[in-house]
Amino acid sequence: MQNITIAIDGFSSTGKSTVAKQLAKHLGYVYVDTGAMYRAVTLYAMQNGLIDAEAFNVETLVDHLPEINISFKFNAELGFAEVYLNGVNIEKDIRTLEVSSFVSQVAAISEVRQKLVEQQQKMGADKGVVMDGRDIGTVVFPDAELKLFMTATAETRAQRRFKELIERGDQVAYEDVLNNVKERDYIDSNREDSPLVKADDAIEIDNSDLTFEEQFEKILQLVKSVIGNG
Ligand code: DC
Repeated sequence: MQNITIAIDGFSSTGKSTVAKQLAKHLGYVYVDTGAMYRAVTLYAMQNGLIDAEAFNVETLVDHLPEINISFKFNAELGFAEVYLNGVNIEKDIRTLEVSSFVSQVAAISEVRQKLVEQQQKMGADKGVVMDGRDIGTVVFPDAELKLFMTATAETRAQRRFKELIERGDQVAYEDVLNNVKERDYIDSNREDSPLVKADDAIEIDNSDLTFEEQFEKILQLVKSVIGNG
């Protein structure tokens, strides 16, 4: 079977990673969660006092970039690769509302993007990859054979994210999650470097009213149509 590159972009909490993981498993492809990489840099900045509610030291963070080593290690039990920051598993630490509230600012820094995009291009160089993020179809792999752009209403996405956070035991208010979703939409779509936009050749999937199974079936058909034509 021909190996292709599948780029999945879209707004936060549209279920990109859930569908990307499942798709990679189904096809025997590598899954790369690029949002986890921006979250890892954000966690580093938080742990090293470079970012908090009052201040954000962009220049110092840029100076520290060579010391930030992000890697993925496949966890057979979970069925996907977990993210590591300088050798430490940070998969759980990067999913907090606190990291979410700073990550869009970190992701707007060109030097950060340059470093991570380079690593992402290396990880996907051999194809057979499903990568999700905001700029995969536009910047990281503009020649990807299949590009998907996922959307859903802000309320639907906030509701999903709120449920996830509550289930893992985080004490959060729905209003705060909704505000965070809207704020990230705004920053991600309006930043100067690689803003979140749908690539011209991406296929839009609004999953507000789709079950996971319906959505997955739809995407599988799209994959088959590309591989079949390849
Ligand atoms: O997908 P996520 O919510 O984990 O992503 C976290 C943040 O990282 C998101 O607000 C935007 C940013 N991001 C990005 O700018 N480019 C990517 N390829 C992936 C994520």
